[in-house]
Amino acid sequence: MTLDGKIATKTGSSEISGPEDLLRVHKLRKKMDAIMVGINTVLADDPRLTVHKISSESEDNPVRVVVDSKARTPLGYRILNPDAPTIIAVSSQASQEKIRSLEKGETTEVVICGNKQVDLDSLMEKLGEKGIKTLMLEGGSTLNYSMFNSGLVSEVRVCIAPMIAGGVKSKTLVDGEGADYMEDAFKLKFKKSYNLGKDLIVEYEVL
Ligand SMILES: NC(=O)c1ccc[n+]([C@@H]2O[C@H](COP(=O)([O-])OP(=O)(O)OC[C@H]3O[C@@H](n4cnc5c(N)ncnc54)[C@H](OP(=O)(O)O)[C@@H]3O)[C@@H](O)[C@H]2O)c1
Repeated sequence: MTLDGKIATKTGSSEISGPEDLLRVHKLRKKMDAIMVGINTVLADDPRLTVHKISSESEDNPVRVVVDSKARTPLGYRILNPDAPTIIAVSSQASQEKIRSLEKGETTEVVICGNKQVDLDSLMEKLGEKGIKTLMLEGGSTLNYSMFNSGLVSEVRVCIAPMIAGGVKSKTLVDGEGADYMEDAFKLKFKKSYNLGKDLIVEYEVL
């Protein structure tokens, strides 16, 4: 994120951290069983969510999880490429037709969790049953808030780039409904910080 906590500008531009940080992220991904993003991040960035910067071995790629109530993930997007398994978590709002077309992908599985938005507790339970024990959440702001609000985040690692984007419509690290009072804010305990290229990495435990 930028120093003012933005993870994208109002136009959706989100290239923030330096090359050293991208390597850090790919190394972290390699250690994880799964990586998770919200559907808006898929639509905005068309990410691969693989470890391609450090390895070309497909077995090094974690499972990719997209939180996508209505099964809006477009079929041609890179998240559905065969480089890694992908789980699309939908709710009963998703049409059977969309679910069937997503399931045609050889490496794609659809799981149904909840009736309106994806029920994150139920998704975590299903991922656990599939042997997924470590999950890295990579945004965006809306899903980040829901995961905090459900008490499902244990650790935060942020990269702060020396930039200020500004803009009331720019996405921040955590948006969503937000706390009414600071006493209701999610509380963190500082663990460590270090410089990486031009960026600053800060790690916290969630209390
Ligand atoms: N700089 C970075 O490192 C970074 C990283 C990630 C993202 N981003 C940026 O963040 C932006 C996207 O963030 P965003 O906040 O708009 O979207 P998001 O968090 O990626 O996706 C939110 C969407 O997920 C779906 N969803 C389903 N169940 C949910 C639940 N229980 N809780 C929350 N969401 C749920 C909802 O759509 P449905 O109701 O249709 O399912 C919701 O609108 C993009 O501009 C992207 O570039 C930046």
